[in-house]
Parts: sequence; structure tokens; C-alpha cells
Amino acid sequence: MKLSLRGVSKTYSGRRGETDALAPLDMAVREGEFISLVGPSGCGKSTLLHIAAGLEPATSGAVELDGERVLGPGAEIGLMFQQQTLFPWLSVRENVRFPLTLAHHRGRAAGGAPGRGAARVESLLRLVGLWDFRDSYPAELSGGMQQRAALARALVGKPEVLLMDEPFGALDAQTREQMQELVLHLIQHHRITTLFVTHDVDEALLLSDRVAVFSERPGRVLATLDVTFARAARSSALKLDEAFLHQKREILALLRGRDRFETQRDRLLFGLTNTQSNSGEGGP
Ligand SMILES: Nc1ncnc2c1ncn2[C@@H]1O[C@H](COP(=O)(O)OP(=O)(O)OP(=O)(O)O)[C@@H](O)[C@H]1O
Ligand SMILES: [Mg+2]
Repeated sequence: MKLSLRGVSKTYSGRRGETDALAPLDMAVREGEFISLVGPSGCGKSTLLHIAAGLEPATSGAVELDGERVLGPGAEIGLMFQQQTLFPWLSVRENVRFPLTLAHHRGRAAGGAPGRGAARVESLLRLVGLWDFRDSYPAELSGGMQQRAALARALVGKPEVLLMDEPFGALDAQTREQMQELVLHLIQHHRITTLFVTHDVDEALLLSDRVAVFSERPGRVLATLDVTFARAARSSALKLDEAFLHQKREILALLRGRDRFETQRDRLLFGLTNTQSNSGEGGP
């Protein structure tokens, strides 16, 4: 198994007491597999990704990459987050090169000499369509271009696993579709083991080999669905396919299950007044 989480749970302790973010859960990601995590806001998806990346300790359980415990962040795991995380003072090319520079300074073989990575940086910038913007600064780019640069940066260290937390959440629908096509291209040509968090069920079905549907907080996996559409058939047009819509309805039904009105967000969304204490969202 490429990436495995066994009995991983998370309880945060803070001034307001304890928050159970994740119930103990098991997840096994095969080599080259693309798994999406969908679930209500606050159910622990980001927490799960942070734990898998070694950025946050689990309260119980263990994460293994190729059978080895993940104890901290490293070059084997590429990360991409929803918020803009490029360094504003570095050009696009310097941003993409940054993990290699870091690895070099840490004396890691993964990065090699800084010059050696130049070809890889160039090929990734070309892959994401930013070669002509290599000397631009993040503030000079659109949101979609920034996320393409972030994707190139996540891939530059040749990670064994890619973890993506709602990477396209802040983009408009059209840009988002372009990013999905870029990821589909990547999957077809450079199969890389990926855990991908999204709120968008269409996006999950379009990209994934499997979709894990999470419950309300504390998150646990309600169901894992196999998505078997041929890779060659994956494009925006697939979203209108009857079998696609059938799976989409299945996932939406799970998401809208018994806990439909439980969260503060859903109360607001469905216009319910918050008469009882809410479900304890951990933050404002
Ligand atoms: N550093 C932290 N300290 C305390 N509580 C936290 C911390 N990070 C997250 N939580 C709490 O853990 C729960 C899960 O949060 P998390 O960010 O993992 O949810 P999520 O599923 O990613 O939500 P969203 O879909 O809105 O991004 C929430 O109740 C949140 O308030
Ligand atoms: Mg999150």
C-alpha cells in the first residue's frame, strides 16, 4: 500500500475544551490511485490531510508511506492548499524551484544541485502553461495561474504522494474546469498517488478512482465509492452522463443524510433559526 492511515483520529484541545475532529479511521491508498474526500464543512478533511502530510500529529493511529511511519513533513509528500501560498517576493520560477533549493540547503539528495533542477522546473512550468510568465510575480497572476504555479511547486520534488486541499475552491467555474482538465492530463501522463479534498461532487467524480464520503464531525468514512469511468472518457461532457449523474445523486444522498441540518452553516443555508446550541463548530 502506498499510503495508509490506520486508526487515525484527532482531538484538538483548546481554551474552549476539546474538539473531536476525526473519529478513528482507516484509509488505504494504492500506488497511483486518486482518491477524493468529500464531506460537510468542519468534518475534519483538512485535519486528515495535515496528519497525512506529517504537519499535525494524530491523537491516535499511524500514517505510513510505503510501509514507513510518517513522522514529519518531507519531500516525499507534495502539498497544495486552497489559499494562495506562493511567496509574493519570489518570481513564478523561483517559487516553483523553492522546494529544490530548500532540499539542497538541507543537504538532501532529492533536490540535487540547484542547477540540476532547472530542467524540471522548466518542464513543469510548460506543463502548467506558465513558461511565458516565469519571471512574473504572484501578484501579477490571476487566481488560476497562481494555483497552476502552486501545482508545479507541489510536483517539483517528485513527491511520492500529492495531497490537495480544495485547491480550486476559490476559482470561478470556468477556471476551475480548466484546472480539472489539467489534473486529468496529469493523472493520465504522470500517475501520482493523490488525496484530494473537494466540496464539489462533480469534481470528485470527474477526477477520482474512488470517492470517500465523510460524515459530520467527528469525521468518519460513511462510504467509499468506486468511480469506474474510463480515463479516456473523463472530460466535462461526462458530467451529463446518466451513470455519472446516478453516482452523483448517490453521494449527495449520503451527504444530505440524517445530519442534514446539524451544522451552523446548514442552519444558515436553510434559513433555520439557531434556537438550540449549535453542533459545536470549533471556530468563529
Ligand atoms: N488547530 C486547530 N485547533 C482547534 N480546532 C481545530 C483546529 N483545526 C481544526 N479544528 C477543528 O476541527 C474540526 C475539523 O476542522 P477541519 O478544518 O479539518 O474541517 P474541514 O472538513 O476541512 O472543513 P472545511 O470543509 O470547512 O474546510 C473543526 O471543528 C475545526 O474547528
Ligand atoms: Mg478544510
